Amino acid sequence: MPNKTILITGGAGFIGSHVVRLFVNKYPDYKIVNLDALTYAGNLENLKDIEDKPNYTFEKVNIVDADAVKAVFDKHKPDGIIHLAAESHVDRSITSPLDFVYTNVIGTVNLLNAAKEQWKDNFEGKRFHHVSTDEVYGALGDTGFFTEETAYDPHSPYSASKASSDHFVYAYADTYGLPIVLTNCSNNYGPNHFPEKLIPLMIHNIINHKPLPVYGDGKYTRDWLYVIDHARAIDLVFHEGKNAEKYNVGGFNEWKNIDLVQLLCKQMDEKLGREAGESQKLITFVKDRPGHDLRYAIDATKINKELGWSPSVTFEEGLSKTIDWFLENKEWLNNVTSGDYQKYYEGQYANEAN
Ligand code: NAD
Ligand code: TYD
Repeated sequence: MPNKTILITGGAGFIGSHVVRLFVNKYPDYKIVNLDALTYAGNLENLKDIEDKPNYTFEKVNIVDADAVKAVFDKHKPDGIIHLAAESHVDRSITSPLDFVYTNVIGTVNLLNAAKEQWKDNFEGKRFHHVSTDEVYGALGDTGFFTEETAYDPHSPYSASKASSDHFVYAYADTYGLPIVLTNCSNNYGPNHFPEKLIPLMIHNIINHKPLPVYGDGKYTRDWLYVIDHARAIDLVFHEGKNAEKYNVGGFNEWKNIDLVQLLCKQMDEKLGREAGESQKLITFVKDRPGHDLRYAIDATKINKELGWSPSVTFEEGLSKTIDWFLENKEWLNNVTSGDYQKYYEGQYANEAN
């Protein structure tokens, strides 16, 4: 597919920045347009190494603004969309559910409308790839896995908004024939992860000798995947996935939160030259998250069998690389936690419409 224009939304965020980097470097013939509103979670620092590449462009746009979205489509005429822009944090969705409806539901429908309108004469060679989450399936008990056939049963405002956006994507395929694919992925971790989520928050607090807040009894279970393996899966499904199908993506890597935090403490004590067991003393059990899903676990057999995808690193390797990245990028971490980078963007974009 030479000379394609691919619009990646949410490219300044955690996963989006890895997808943008992969596409910019791997496909020099493509034009990659990164559309992002630069919310608290969006940070162009994440893309410093590729921002001057000739096949990369940035558009600061809020997907809730339908006219602004349409203007970007008119300007760049994308052949493919990889849609990652979202409000992504469950805890924030509990305090501000409407923000999640605006961005995750209305923003997605705005993008679907723009794609439908742009491509209406010919859907040939076009693709709308919606990046979703395993959280749409609800929660598992102690056994079983989410497959592509598992019925949706979201519990948090975040997962309800993502489930809704998934339904709209299917509705546009069924009603208008829009060419779509979906990926539903498990919890990601890795470089550039915003330190409100479990792993980077714990890394930040361990570095700073702050308490490590474990919700409830710490027995909640998540299936963790290294972010670069998610980006590889998105690349594969975007190019080779079957039209109108979904692919579950996961690490076959389940960890109870408390075991994961203990492993992190152990690895970090070694890397920081601290006495064994020192960081563990920081673990503090705190009030549980309301509606907390007990367990997520993805069955990623379909993407493995049909497209040959599997994770490239073990969890221990991925976690070690992640810790190293945070230790080598303390300035990034400090900027993000102090909010300095947001002040910078407010000044930088003060005269723009968005
Ligand atoms: P993130 O919060 O780190 O980044 C989200 C990005 O979207 C930011 O750059 C932000 O500025 C941008 N954004 C937010 N609202 C916007 C708006 N209204 N208009 C334009 N841009 C906006 O999120 P992430 O963890 O990188 O997740 C990316 C996608 O992957 C999301 O759709 C999420 O649901 C999905 N996902 C995430 C995980 C995970 O573990 N993080 C797992 C599975 C799926
Ligand atoms: P999180 O990273 O917020 O991802 P998600 O809720 O989307 O799975 O949380 C991962 C798990 O860690 C989840 O069970 C909640 C738990 N958790 C804590 O115990 N303490 C924390 O400070 C955070 C942020 C999460």
